[in-house]
Amino acid sequence: PLPEKVKIVEVGPRDGLQNEKSIVPTEAKIHLIDMLSESGLQVIEATSFVSPKWVPQMADQVEVMKGIQRKPGVTYPVLTPNLKGFQAAVKAGASEVAIFGAASELFSKKNINCSVDESLQRFDEVMKAAKEAAVPVRGYVSCVVGCPYEGKVAPEKVAHVAKRLYAMGCYEISLGDTIGVGTPGSMVDMLEAVTREVPVSALAVHCHDTYGQALANILVALQMGISVVDSSVAGLGGCPYAQGASGNVATEDVVYMLHGLGIQTGVELSKLMDAGAFICRTLNRKSSSKVAQATCKL
Ligand code: HMG
Ligand code: MG
Repeated sequence: PLPEKVKIVEVGPRDGLQNEKSIVPTEAKIHLIDMLSESGLQVIEATSFVSPKWVPQMADQVEVMKGIQRKPGVTYPVLTPNLKGFQAAVKAGASEVAIFGAASELFSKKNINCSVDESLQRFDEVMKAAKEAAVPVRGYVSCVVGCPYEGKVAPEKVAHVAKRLYAMGCYEISLGDTIGVGTPGSMVDMLEAVTREVPVSALAVHCHDTYGQALANILVALQMGISVVDSSVAGLGGCPYAQGASGNVATEDVVYMLHGLGIQTGVELSKLMDAGAFICRTLNRKSSSKVAQATCKL
Protein backbone atom coordinates (compact mmCIF):
# COMPACT_ATOMS: atom_id res chain seq x y z
CA PRO A 1 0.00 0.00 0.00
CA LEU A 2 1.21 3.47 -0.85
CA PRO A 3 1.35 6.25 1.78
CA GLU A 4 -1.54 8.73 1.82
CA LYS A 5 0.76 11.69 2.27
CA VAL A 6 4.36 12.33 1.35
CA LYS A 7 6.65 14.96 2.83
CA ILE A 8 8.88 16.49 0.20
CA VAL A 9 12.24 17.85 1.31
CA GLU A 10 13.22 20.50 -1.24
CA VAL A 11 17.01 20.49 -1.58
CA GLY A 12 17.43 22.72 -4.66
CA PRO A 13 18.81 25.83 -2.91
CA ARG A 14 21.51 23.67 -1.31
CA ASP A 15 22.16 20.50 -3.34
CA GLY A 16 21.27 22.25 -6.59
CA LEU A 17 23.09 25.52 -6.23
CA GLN A 18 26.18 24.05 -4.57
CA ASN A 19 26.98 22.44 -7.90
CA GLU A 20 26.33 25.29 -10.30
CA LYS A 21 29.49 26.58 -11.95
CA SER A 22 28.38 30.18 -11.76
CA ILE A 23 27.89 31.58 -8.31
CA VAL A 24 24.27 32.56 -7.98
CA PRO A 25 23.78 36.04 -6.47
CA THR A 26 22.65 35.88 -2.85
CA GLU A 27 19.54 37.92 -3.67
CA ALA A 28 18.47 35.32 -6.24
CA LYS A 29 18.96 32.48 -3.75
CA ILE A 30 16.81 34.32 -1.23
CA HIS A 31 14.13 34.99 -3.82
CA LEU A 32 14.15 31.32 -4.87
CA ILE A 33 13.70 30.14 -1.28
CA ASP A 34 10.91 32.68 -0.71
CA MET A 35 9.11 31.49 -3.86
CA LEU A 36 9.49 27.87 -2.76
CA SER A 37 8.05 28.80 0.65
CA GLU A 38 4.92 30.05 -1.13
CA SER A 39 4.42 26.75 -2.98
CA GLY A 40 3.32 24.77 0.05
CA LEU A 41 6.57 22.89 0.63
CA GLN A 42 7.14 22.12 4.32
CA VAL A 43 10.90 21.67 4.27
CA ILE A 44 13.40 23.70 2.25
CA GLU A 45 17.08 22.95 2.75
CA ALA A 46 18.49 26.44 2.50
CA THR A 47 22.30 26.30 2.44
CA SER A 48 25.28 24.64 4.07
CA PHE A 49 27.79 25.67 6.71
CA VAL A 50 30.81 24.08 5.08
CA SER A 51 34.21 25.47 4.19
CA PRO A 52 34.04 28.23 1.52
CA LYS A 53 37.35 26.87 0.20
CA TRP A 54 35.68 23.55 -0.49
CA VAL A 55 32.32 24.83 -1.73
CA PRO A 56 32.49 28.52 -2.69
CA GLN A 57 28.90 28.37 -3.95
CA MET A 58 27.67 28.23 -0.34
CA ALA A 59 29.96 30.95 1.05
CA ASP A 60 27.02 33.34 1.56
CA GLN A 61 25.25 31.01 3.98
CA VAL A 62 24.86 33.64 6.72
CA GLU A 63 23.36 36.25 4.37
CA VAL A 64 20.98 33.67 2.93
CA MET A 65 19.76 32.65 6.38
CA LYS A 66 19.30 36.29 7.40
CA GLY A 67 17.61 37.28 4.14
CA ILE A 68 14.90 34.66 3.73
CA GLN A 69 11.36 35.24 4.87
CA ARG A 70 10.52 32.33 7.10
CA LYS A 71 7.02 31.15 6.55
CA PRO A 72 5.33 29.66 9.62
CA GLY A 73 5.11 25.89 9.33
CA VAL A 74 8.10 25.67 7.00
CA THR A 75 11.52 24.51 8.23
CA TYR A 76 14.80 25.57 6.65
CA PRO A 77 17.48 23.00 7.56
CA VAL A 78 21.15 23.53 6.68
CA LEU A 79 24.11 21.16 6.34
CA THR A 80 26.64 21.11 9.18
CA PRO A 81 29.62 18.74 8.79
CA ASN A 82 31.19 19.52 12.16
CA LEU A 83 30.84 21.51 15.38
CA LYS A 84 32.24 24.65 13.77
CA GLY A 85 29.53 24.49 11.12
CA PHE A 86 26.86 23.76 13.71
CA GLN A 87 27.80 26.74 15.85
CA ALA A 88 27.84 29.07 12.87
CA ALA A 89 24.47 27.74 11.72
CA VAL A 90 22.81 28.30 15.07
CA LYS A 91 24.31 31.79 15.26
CA ALA A 92 22.81 32.54 11.86
CA GLY A 93 19.39 31.44 13.08
CA ALA A 94 19.15 27.85 11.81
CA SER A 95 16.55 25.88 13.73
CA GLU A 96 17.32 22.54 12.13
CA VAL A 97 20.52 20.99 10.75
CA ALA A 98 21.70 17.95 8.83
CA ILE A 99 24.86 15.92 9.22
CA PHE A 100 26.09 14.02 6.20
CA GLY A 101 28.03 10.79 6.15
CA ALA A 102 28.65 8.13 3.55
CA ALA A 103 28.54 4.38 3.15
CA SER A 104 31.81 4.52 1.20
CA GLU A 105 35.26 5.30 2.66
CA LEU A 106 36.69 6.98 -0.42
CA PHE A 107 33.68 9.21 -0.89
CA SER A 108 33.85 10.23 2.77
CA LYS A 109 37.51 11.23 2.30
CA LYS A 110 36.82 13.24 -0.85
CA ASN A 111 33.69 14.88 0.45
CA ILE A 112 34.45 15.71 4.08
CA ASN A 113 38.15 14.82 4.36
CA CYS A 114 37.87 12.06 6.95
CA SER A 115 37.09 8.36 7.27
CA VAL A 116 33.59 7.11 7.96
CA ASP A 117 34.47 6.37 11.59
CA GLU A 118 36.02 9.79 12.09
CA SER A 119 32.96 11.40 10.57
CA LEU A 120 30.71 9.59 13.03
CA GLN A 121 32.82 10.96 15.89
CA ARG A 122 32.46 14.50 14.53
CA PHE A 123 28.73 13.98 14.11
CA ASP A 124 28.50 12.82 17.70
CA GLU A 125 29.89 16.20 18.80
CA VAL A 126 27.34 17.99 16.61
CA MET A 127 24.60 15.76 18.00
CA LYS A 128 25.49 16.56 21.61
CA ALA A 129 25.51 20.30 20.94
CA ALA A 130 22.25 20.00 19.01
CA LYS A 131 20.56 18.15 21.86
CA GLU A 132 21.59 20.88 24.27
CA ALA A 133 20.25 23.54 21.93
CA ALA A 134 17.12 21.45 21.16
CA VAL A 135 17.88 21.56 17.43
CA PRO A 136 16.57 18.58 15.43
CA VAL A 137 19.16 16.80 13.31
CA ARG A 138 18.65 14.95 10.05
CA GLY A 139 21.23 12.44 8.88
CA TYR A 140 22.32 11.72 5.32
CA VAL A 141 24.02 8.61 4.06
CA SER A 142 25.65 9.10 0.65
CA CYS A 143 26.52 6.48 -1.94
CA VAL A 144 23.78 4.09 -0.84
CA VAL A 145 23.91 2.01 -4.01
CA GLY A 146 27.11 3.12 -5.71
CA CYS A 147 30.19 5.26 -5.21
CA PRO A 148 32.09 7.18 -7.90
CA TYR A 149 35.39 5.90 -6.45
CA GLU A 150 34.55 2.44 -5.09
CA GLY A 151 31.81 1.21 -7.41
CA LYS A 152 29.01 -0.91 -5.98
CA VAL A 153 28.27 -0.41 -2.30
CA ALA A 154 27.04 -3.32 -0.15
CA PRO A 155 23.57 -2.80 1.41
CA GLU A 156 25.01 -3.89 4.78
CA LYS A 157 27.40 -0.93 4.79
CA VAL A 158 24.51 1.45 4.22
CA ALA A 159 22.47 -0.22 6.95
CA HIS A 160 25.41 0.07 9.35
CA VAL A 161 25.91 3.83 8.86
CA ALA A 162 22.15 4.51 8.84
CA LYS A 163 21.77 2.60 12.11
CA ARG A 164 24.62 4.55 13.73
CA LEU A 165 23.12 7.90 12.70
CA TYR A 166 19.71 6.87 13.94
CA ALA A 167 21.10 5.59 17.25
CA MET A 168 22.92 8.91 17.65
CA GLY A 169 19.56 10.69 17.58
CA CYS A 170 18.89 11.75 14.00
CA TYR A 171 15.12 11.95 13.62
CA GLU A 172 15.29 11.06 9.95
CA ILE A 173 17.84 9.32 7.75
CA SER A 174 18.00 10.33 4.10
CA LEU A 175 19.44 7.65 1.85
CA GLY A 176 21.37 9.30 -0.96
CA ASP A 177 21.93 7.77 -4.36
CA THR A 178 24.56 10.44 -4.86
CA ILE A 179 25.46 9.53 -8.43
CA GLY A 180 22.06 8.27 -9.54
CA VAL A 181 23.18 4.76 -10.48
CA GLY A 182 20.47 2.88 -8.58
CA THR A 183 17.69 0.92 -10.25
CA PRO A 184 14.49 -0.33 -8.64
CA GLY A 185 16.36 -3.63 -8.21
CA SER A 186 19.38 -2.31 -6.31
CA MET A 187 17.16 0.15 -4.45
CA VAL A 188 14.94 -2.61 -3.05
CA ASP A 189 17.98 -4.68 -1.99
CA MET A 190 19.43 -1.67 -0.16
CA LEU A 191 16.11 -0.69 1.45
CA GLU A 192 15.51 -4.24 2.67
CA ALA A 193 18.84 -4.13 4.52
CA VAL A 194 18.26 -0.64 5.96
CA THR A 195 14.68 -1.26 7.10
CA ARG A 196 15.94 -4.18 9.19
CA GLU A 197 17.90 -1.61 11.26
CA VAL A 198 15.93 1.67 11.09
CA PRO A 199 12.13 2.10 11.23
CA VAL A 200 10.72 2.87 7.82
CA SER A 201 8.92 5.91 9.26
CA ALA A 202 12.35 7.50 9.88
CA LEU A 203 13.66 7.00 6.35
CA ALA A 204 13.81 9.27 3.31
CA VAL A 205 15.13 8.71 -0.19
CA HIS A 206 17.37 11.19 -1.99
CA CYS A 207 17.72 10.22 -5.63
CA HIS A 208 19.92 11.90 -8.19
CA ASP A 209 18.71 11.23 -11.71
CA THR A 210 21.91 10.56 -13.64
CA TYR A 211 20.63 7.33 -15.19
CA GLY A 212 16.99 8.42 -15.40
CA GLN A 213 15.93 5.95 -12.71
CA ALA A 214 14.95 8.34 -9.94
CA LEU A 215 11.14 8.30 -10.27
CA ALA A 216 11.10 4.51 -10.54
CA ASN A 217 13.38 4.26 -7.51
CA ILE A 218 11.13 6.60 -5.55
CA LEU A 219 8.08 4.55 -6.48
CA VAL A 220 9.58 1.33 -5.11
CA ALA A 221 10.58 3.17 -1.94
CA LEU A 222 6.96 4.36 -1.53
CA GLN A 223 5.77 0.80 -2.03
CA MET A 224 8.05 -0.23 0.83
CA GLY A 225 6.43 2.36 3.10
CA ILE A 226 8.81 5.31 2.83
CA SER A 227 6.95 8.62 2.88
CA VAL A 228 9.69 11.25 2.73
CA VAL A 229 11.26 12.19 -0.60
CA ASP A 230 14.08 14.63 -1.30
CA SER A 231 14.06 16.48 -4.60
CA SER A 232 15.28 19.62 -6.24
CA VAL A 233 13.22 22.21 -8.10
CA ALA A 234 13.99 22.18 -11.86
CA GLY A 235 16.22 19.14 -11.18
CA LEU A 236 19.05 21.46 -10.19
CA GLY A 237 22.14 20.01 -8.73
CA GLY A 238 24.69 17.31 -8.42
CA CYS A 239 27.56 17.01 -6.00
CA PRO A 240 30.92 18.76 -6.30
CA TYR A 241 32.68 15.62 -5.09
CA ALA A 242 30.93 13.24 -7.46
CA GLN A 243 31.87 14.26 -10.99
CA GLY A 244 29.36 13.53 -13.71
CA ALA A 245 26.51 13.09 -11.26
CA SER A 246 23.49 14.99 -12.47
CA GLY A 247 20.97 16.80 -10.37
CA ASN A 248 18.38 15.47 -8.01
CA VAL A 249 15.10 14.28 -9.38
CA ALA A 250 13.01 17.38 -10.17
CA THR A 251 10.48 18.32 -7.50
CA GLU A 252 7.92 19.17 -10.20
CA ASP A 253 8.15 15.61 -11.57
CA VAL A 254 7.87 14.04 -8.11
CA VAL A 255 4.83 16.16 -7.28
CA TYR A 256 3.19 15.29 -10.61
CA MET A 257 3.73 11.57 -10.00
CA LEU A 258 2.54 11.69 -6.39
CA HIS A 259 -0.61 13.65 -7.21
CA GLY A 260 -1.26 11.21 -10.03
CA LEU A 261 -1.12 8.42 -7.47
CA GLY A 262 -3.62 10.27 -5.28
CA ILE A 263 -0.94 11.02 -2.67
CA GLN A 264 -1.11 14.38 -0.90
CA THR A 265 1.94 16.66 -0.78
CA GLY A 266 0.48 20.03 0.11
CA VAL A 267 2.41 21.48 -2.82
CA GLU A 268 0.83 23.66 -5.48
CA LEU A 269 2.45 22.56 -8.72
CA SER A 270 1.96 25.85 -10.57
CA LYS A 271 3.71 27.88 -7.84
CA LEU A 272 6.52 25.35 -7.74
CA MET A 273 6.90 25.69 -11.50
CA ASP A 274 7.12 29.48 -11.16
CA ALA A 275 10.02 29.02 -8.74
CA GLY A 276 11.69 26.60 -11.17
CA ALA A 277 11.24 29.01 -14.07
CA PHE A 278 12.73 31.83 -12.01
CA ILE A 279 15.91 29.98 -11.09
CA CYS A 280 16.38 28.65 -14.64
CA ARG A 281 16.15 32.21 -15.98
CA THR A 282 18.70 33.33 -13.40
CA LEU A 283 21.08 30.51 -14.30
CA ASN A 284 20.33 30.89 -17.99
CA ARG A 285 19.77 27.19 -18.31
CA LYS A 286 16.97 24.85 -19.33
CA SER A 287 14.95 23.13 -16.62
CA SER A 288 15.73 19.44 -16.10
CA SER A 289 12.13 18.86 -15.06
CA LYS A 290 10.14 16.92 -17.66
CA VAL A 291 6.93 18.42 -16.30
CA ALA A 292 8.34 21.93 -16.74
CA GLN A 293 9.41 21.07 -20.29
CA ALA A 294 6.05 19.60 -21.26
CA THR A 295 4.00 21.97 -23.39
CA CYS A 296 0.82 19.92 -23.35
CA LYS A 297 -0.38 20.98 -19.90
CA LEU A 298 -3.04 18.91 -18.22
P1 HMG B 1 39.01 20.03 6.62
O1 HMG B 1 39.93 20.82 5.79
O2 HMG B 1 39.30 18.60 6.88
O3 HMG B 1 38.71 20.76 8.02
O4 HMG B 1 37.54 20.17 6.00
P2 HMG B 1 39.63 21.29 9.15
O5 HMG B 1 38.86 21.11 10.42
O6 HMG B 1 41.01 20.71 9.04
O7 HMG B 1 39.71 22.86 8.82
C1 HMG B 1 40.37 23.39 7.69
C2 HMG B 1 39.84 24.79 7.38
O8 HMG B 1 38.43 24.74 7.12
C3 HMG B 1 40.03 25.75 8.53
O9 HMG B 1 40.17 27.05 7.95
C4 HMG B 1 38.69 25.68 9.23
O10 HMG B 1 38.41 26.83 9.99
C5 HMG B 1 37.74 25.57 8.07
P3 HMG B 1 41.60 27.70 7.66
O11 HMG B 1 42.32 27.65 8.98
O12 HMG B 1 42.25 26.83 6.61
O13 HMG B 1 41.25 29.06 7.16
N1 HMG B 1 36.47 24.91 8.42
C6 HMG B 1 35.25 25.44 8.16
N2 HMG B 1 34.88 26.59 7.57
C7 HMG B 1 33.57 26.82 7.46
N3 HMG B 1 32.62 25.96 7.90
C8 HMG B 1 32.96 24.82 8.50
C9 HMG B 1 34.33 24.53 8.65
N4 HMG B 1 35.00 23.49 9.19
C10 HMG B 1 36.29 23.74 9.05
N5 HMG B 1 32.01 23.99 8.94
C11 HMG B 1 35.17 20.09 5.94
C12 HMG B 1 36.45 19.51 6.54
C13 HMG B 1 34.03 19.15 6.25
C14 HMG B 1 34.90 21.45 6.55
C15 HMG B 1 35.37 20.24 4.41
O14 HMG B 1 35.78 19.01 3.91
C16 HMG B 1 34.15 20.70 3.68
O15 HMG B 1 33.67 21.81 3.86
N6 HMG B 1 33.60 19.87 2.75
C17 HMG B 1 32.50 20.23 1.92
C18 HMG B 1 31.52 19.12 1.91
C19 HMG B 1 30.27 19.46 1.11
O16 HMG B 1 29.67 20.50 1.30
N7 HMG B 1 29.88 18.56 0.19
C20 HMG B 1 28.68 18.69 -0.54
C21 HMG B 1 27.49 18.39 0.30
S1 HMG B 1 27.22 16.64 0.57
C22 HMG B 1 26.20 16.15 -0.73
O17 HMG B 1 25.97 16.90 -1.63
C23 HMG B 1 25.54 14.80 -0.67
C24 HMG B 1 24.07 14.86 -0.27
O18 HMG B 1 23.34 15.67 -1.18
C25 HMG B 1 23.46 13.46 -0.24
C26 HMG B 1 23.72 12.66 -1.51
O19 HMG B 1 23.40 13.11 -2.62
O20 HMG B 1 24.24 11.56 -1.35
C27 HMG B 1 23.90 15.47 1.13
MG1 MG C 1 22.62 15.03 -3.06
